[in-house]
Amino acid sequence: MISDPVFILHNFKIRKVNLNMDMETKHKIYFESSLNMGSIPDNSIDLIVTSPPYPMIQMWDDIFSTQDKKIEKALNDRDGNKAFELMHGVLDSVWNEAYRVLRSGGFACINIGDATRTINENFALYPNHTRILHHLRDIGFTSLPDIIWRKQTNAPNKFMGSGMLPAGAYVTLEHEYILVVRKGSKREFPKESEKLNRRQSALFWEERNDFFSDIWFDIKGTRQGRKAKDRKTSRRRSGAFPFELVYRLINMYSVKGDMILDPFMGTGTSMAAAMASARNCIGFEIDNSFKKDILAVKNNIVDYSNQVIQTRLNKHIDFVKERLKLKKIIKHNNEFYGFPVITNQEKFLILNELIKVKQIKSGHFSVGYSKTPQEKYCLDWGKIFDNKLLDDFKIKKTNDLHRRDEQLELF
Ligand SMILES: C[S@@+](CC[C@H](N)C(=O)[O-])C[C@H]1O[C@@H](n2cnc3c(N)ncnc32)[C@H](O)[C@@H]1O
Repeated sequence: MISDPVFILHNFKIRKVNLNMDMETKHKIYFESSLNMGSIPDNSIDLIVTSPPYPMIQMWDDIFSTQDKKIEKALNDRDGNKAFELMHGVLDSVWNEAYRVLRSGGFACINIGDATRTINENFALYPNHTRILHHLRDIGFTSLPDIIWRKQTNAPNKFMGSGMLPAGAYVTLEHEYILVVRKGSKREFPKESEKLNRRQSALFWEERNDFFSDIWFDIKGTRQGRKAKDRKTSRRRSGAFPFELVYRLINMYSVKGDMILDPFMGTGTSMAAAMASARNCIGFEIDNSFKKDILAVKNNIVDYSNQVIQTRLNKHIDFVKERLKLKKIIKHNNEFYGFPVITNQEKFLILNELIKVKQIKSGHFSVGYSKTPQEKYCLDWGKIFDNKLLDDFKIKKTNDLHRRDEQLELF
């Protein structure tokens, strides 16, 4: 729905801009199993983004065994292949539900790592990503180019086997996958209001170049230790994925106001990224002990998201500055902020600041956003760039995020 026009000032001209969304999002976490998501209607979700428990990684053995007793028996019998297949049987049921609730044209992005394990003195790789992709294709998803998330570990003991004496070592697994699949054919945006919302959800050109590359080198894993009191009642490690990873995926594969689903919500990273991106979300999590983490997200998300947004805007200003230094032409201006952008598609890009978050009831939140661009970025950019005043232009760079450390505060 197109709302009333908003008047904004940039380049010292008043401009009338139509903004395109109801600036509130809703977020609901169900503390129950996603094996049955009966409360979610068919074809109602725009994007699924998730990271399941990884089959054959020891920290997830118990959670799989509670969902299918045969898994515990297979592990006790030291039958690795059977345990692997049974664990994937549990995940298959969730992927079936995921297919049902996803609308045609919607994407699913699944972060998964393969596992290595020695059973009966036999060291082997358990290829989780191929097993999941196989099932997704079987139930009707179209597979699309995936992303390799290269997460380096500096641990001195990372090499598996002797290494120097052939042939007794194995390469170290330092990557995970983000599988990307779609239900049905390409998503269309037929209405004018949908087209405008899509344009307001655009990425910067330079972000597009990084995000749509098939190997992500620049995202570090999240520290996963949990607070001592939570470790007593639940797992020692959260299994959380980094905020940046899911924030990127949400911005690549959905538009503002969309409904995002994470069937394995854990600490609430996907909810945080949906809130920061002006998307709605639904999450499922069977472990009640994550309620506290979800509340911590709610308590910190406004400041955290606004720093993420500010960092993106600052990076764009730096990018423009470098480009102009190299005397490269930038042809377009963004309609809201007035700063130069490379393509016509970025003209209506706006990053809405979060204003407030409210808890409606347990596990149910709403977030309100600003409809107008951040005033401090609506400047006479032509003059600033022409007169090389940018070095004097100090949008507090010190406030930029060191995202990895900040995530520890958030959760
Ligand atoms: C890899 S973790 C996800 C971590 C999450 N991405 C985050 O950033 O915190 C997988 C989560 O799935 C949950 N889980 C496992 N089986 C489930 C099921 N059937 N329904 C809902 N949650 C489940 C586990 O308790 C665990 O928290």
